Amino acid sequence: MCGIVGYFGKRSAQEFLLEGLRRLEYRGYDSAGIALVEKGKLRVTRSVGKVSVLEDRLSGKVGTSMIGIAHTRWATHGKPSEKNAHPHTDCTKRVAVVHNGIIENYRELKETLEQQGHVFRSETDTEIIAHVLEEEMKTNTFEGAFAQTLKRLRGAYAIVAVSESSPNVMLAARLSSPLVLGIGEGEMFLASDVSALVGDVKRVVYLDDGEMVVLDVEGYVVKTLANKRQKKEEVTLEWDRSKAERGGFPHFMLKEIFEQPKSFADALRGRLIPEEGHARLGGLKAIEKRLRTIDRIIIVSCGTSYHSGLVGEYMLEEYAGIPTEVEMASEFRYRKPLLGKKTLVIAISQSGETADTLAAIREAKEKGVLTIGIVNVVGSSISRETDAGVYCHAGPEISVASTKAFTSQLAILALLSLYLGRQRGLSLVLGQRIAKELLLLPQYMERVLEHAPIIKKLAKKYAKQSHYLYLGRKYNYPNALEGALKIKEIAYVPAQGYPTGEMKHGPIALIDSSVMAIMMVPRDSVYEKNMSGMQEILARGSRVIAIGTEGDTELSQQATDTLLLPKTLEMLSPILSAIPLQLFAYYIAVERGYDIDQPRNLAKSVTVE
Ligand code: G6P
Repeated sequence: MCGIVGYFGKRSAQEFLLEGLRRLEYRGYDSAGIALVEKGKLRVTRSVGKVSVLEDRLSGKVGTSMIGIAHTRWATHGKPSEKNAHPHTDCTKRVAVVHNGIIENYRELKETLEQQGHVFRSETDTEIIAHVLEEEMKTNTFEGAFAQTLKRLRGAYAIVAVSESSPNVMLAARLSSPLVLGIGEGEMFLASDVSALVGDVKRVVYLDDGEMVVLDVEGYVVKTLANKRQKKEEVTLEWDRSKAERGGFPHFMLKEIFEQPKSFADALRGRLIPEEGHARLGGLKAIEKRLRTIDRIIIVSCGTSYHSGLVGEYMLEEYAGIPTEVEMASEFRYRKPLLGKKTLVIAISQSGETADTLAAIREAKEKGVLTIGIVNVVGSSISRETDAGVYCHAGPEISVASTKAFTSQLAILALLSLYLGRQRGLSLVLGQRIAKELLLLPQYMERVLEHAPIIKKLAKKYAKQSHYLYLGRKYNYPNALEGALKIKEIAYVPAQGYPTGEMKHGPIALIDSSVMAIMMVPRDSVYEKNMSGMQEILARGSRVIAIGTEGDTELSQQATDTLLLPKTLEMLSPILSAIPLQLFAYYIAVERGYDIDQPRNLAKSVTVE
């Protein structure tokens, strides 16, 4: 979704801002723009399309400015066009703002402003902010007017503003939309996503809702809108640039798929006590006692994180013995969930900023329920707003289609099942078995990745296929949903994920020789059932790619194509079977020639509803 970067310092702002925008490209956008404060004057340049187009527009004009703001826009109000691109300015063009989020009361504000004589040049809600600011500045300083402006806005925002009236000041604020301040040597940065700052800063300050920050030559001050100074912690940023670069892979997605043995091991690191068959989860220490009393779990999440939650449901019920439900956060927030005192709400989110998941957590907290986060981005809103949590430690995930975050989330859910299970009735022997097997998974994952060339060939063979059916059962049912999601997201092929056992209640009517089914058939407790499901599909003329277990010759003889993966515990099998599904979607998208890391219409982090 939209990306913001701001620079205040000692080098060319233009150079850093363009680089910052490039680092945010993965989030998805349709236009870009930049505003530089040069010798006290604002210079705004905007363009439709990629950051490279903006760069071309700026070429020849190497800015001397050391203060500037920039933005990549993902259209919400108004189509993608130059006039709708940020930064937006007021009537006098002396104030420029960039904004992520949605201003819900923009219509009423616009009406009032029009009556006051303001003329609008775009169809966006953001432009309103510049005009309110202009109006407020008639009776106030830039900083005072900014605070007054924020008080008049309803909705969600991360805003950064500059003005000719105070050319050595930059102002920013957030409400329900992420914004982080980066601190370097004699320079300061602002960004909606910390990955824009990796490599340039070592320390960051995460702004909270209702706070604004003033940057000037003296440094920074964080305040409330009521002008009360806030004491903020400067957090060390542990990610380095190499982790956020492609490292020789043609796409971030492929790089991240191949990183999984490592990211999975990182998720487990220091958290397993194999001899005790237990997990040590430092982030839950403070609520350890309360967790013992939990009698129900609700997992809230979206997209791929919703699918990992579904696997978690099977794990937590089977090994921790706690009734568990998983709900899409966008639904949870609008129904009237019945939450008891002993309910635990778990939010799963790679970014930690997904608006619906954040709102679901807030709803749960309002009801006094214990909340925990399974989050990848350290310091993100969900990680800060939950009572406790466990970080995924997957490193930056840049590809819009989530891969390594998914398997890391499954690692954490397995650890959590072990942890809660051992607090309850899970035996030492079973605990030890799970712990031992978890430690073996990274090497199994390496073996699965060796199938990449075969999967690439399969993708060539089936590249023209117009519809896919993904099927799985029990622990692998969520992977059927995830496999279908992956191919929709990046290869734009219609696909349906379904539990194999439900086929006969409808989808089987679709089956004929034009259909291609991808079935997960590991040697587990539902193997026989899956095999008969596969027979029913093959008998109706459909072709089947079966993902099974090494040594299963019976499966290889029957399916059209087979991929056999190492044998592991049933609860952990989706961690392995996810990988061929990711690779298949990736190679199909390559065959079809799509922009894999920036799929159309999608955003990496959905920070608005
Ligand atoms: C977007 C992304 C998905 C992601 C979902 C949830 O839709 O494109 O890849 O799974 O958001 O994101 P989260 O950061 O909360 O896991």
